[in-house]
Amino acid sequence: MASINDIPKGKGKIVNIGGKDTAVFNDNGTVKAFYTKCPHAECHVNWNDKENTWDCPCHGSRFENDGTLKKGPSTQGLYPMDIKMDGGEITR
Ligand code: FES
Repeated sequence: MASINDIPKGKGKIVNIGGKDTAVFNDNGTVKAFYTKCPHAECHVNWNDKENTWDCPCHGSRFENDGTLKKGPSTQGLYPMDIKMDGGEITR
């Protein structure tokens, strides 16, 4: 189970939600969640704690913490994932 308390405010983290790795950004208590698959060729993005971005290791695409595209070759942002908040727990 993933908890909002595991993710510092203003930071992102890959967490397991419902058995699926999920890119989650804690926007000061509001959770934004994305599929970890990069829209370019489906490599998995990682959180870059220094730059506060989601970075793809395969061909260098970068995404803002809110999932929007920062740098290609991807032509679009990360795919949003619908999640629910139940207390502090994040579920699908
Ligand atoms: S798969 Fe992410 S940049 Fe190509």
